[in-house]
Amino acid sequence: MSPQVTPTRGRFITLEGGEGVGKSTNLGFVVDFLRGQGIEVVETREPGGTPRAEAMRQLLLAHGDEPLDSDAELLLVFAARAQHLAGKIRPALERGAWVVSDRFTDATFAYQGGGRGIDAERIALLEQFVQRELAPDLTLLLDMPLEAAEQRLAGRLDRRGEVRDRFEQEQRDFFERVRDAYLARAAADPQRMSVIDASGSLDEVQAQIAQQLRNRTAAWS
Ligand SMILES: Nc1ncnc2c1ncn2[C@@H]1O[C@H](COP(=O)(O)OP(=O)(O)O)[C@@H](O)[C@H]1O
Ligand SMILES: [Mg+2]
Repeated sequence: MSPQVTPTRGRFITLEGGEGVGKSTNLGFVVDFLRGQGIEVVETREPGGTPRAEAMRQLLLAHGDEPLDSDAELLLVFAARAQHLAGKIRPALERGAWVVSDRFTDATFAYQGGGRGIDAERIALLEQFVQRELAPDLTLLLDMPLEAAEQRLAGRLDRRGEVRDRFEQEQRDFFERVRDAYLARAAADPQRMSVIDASGSLDEVQAQIAQQLRNRTAAWS
């Protein structure tokens, strides 16, 4: 009988940033870059990523007459994350695939922490509860001034005829706090997080992303 070979755990890469900075646009670029190196890649997003977690996403994003309590929002984010981890992220990483996600827990620290004002310590408790040892290996934080990001978001919503979701309709001071919280996390954890200047052309942004991917992944092999 041949010995069972346990595959090395895959790598986990996340894209973060506020509304309209280009996360979804650049997710495909990251995925194609890695696949071009022969890596099996699973692409996903948060909140969501599995059918039940996407149903929880709808609860988070939908408008409604009854306000969503901020603690309920926080717990729902982590409920969706637990489902996503169990149903998609952990199985992929365990078989050796890499996972690239449009948002993960840094978004919770930025939106529910910075934006809504929930203590980071409480968020960290839930992070530990839901994720245990699991954390992203690399996080690309797309950062740019709010006005320009708002213009990109407005353009996208116009083109697609979409209405703003519960987060997209927040006011400027909310997004200032989100941006500040993201940047503070990146400054505190430069080993894991790379700040990408997202204000340039798509080519310029993708050149930075490619450089970061080359530098960071080279250190892993
Ligand atoms: N570097 C860029 N320059 C100009 N427009 C961009 C750039 N990156 C993304 N966009 C456009 O901005 C809008 C928002 O991008 P998107 O990827 O949806 O952002 P996010 O997922 O971060 O909210 C989209 O219409 C997208 O085509
Ligand atoms: Mg997006």
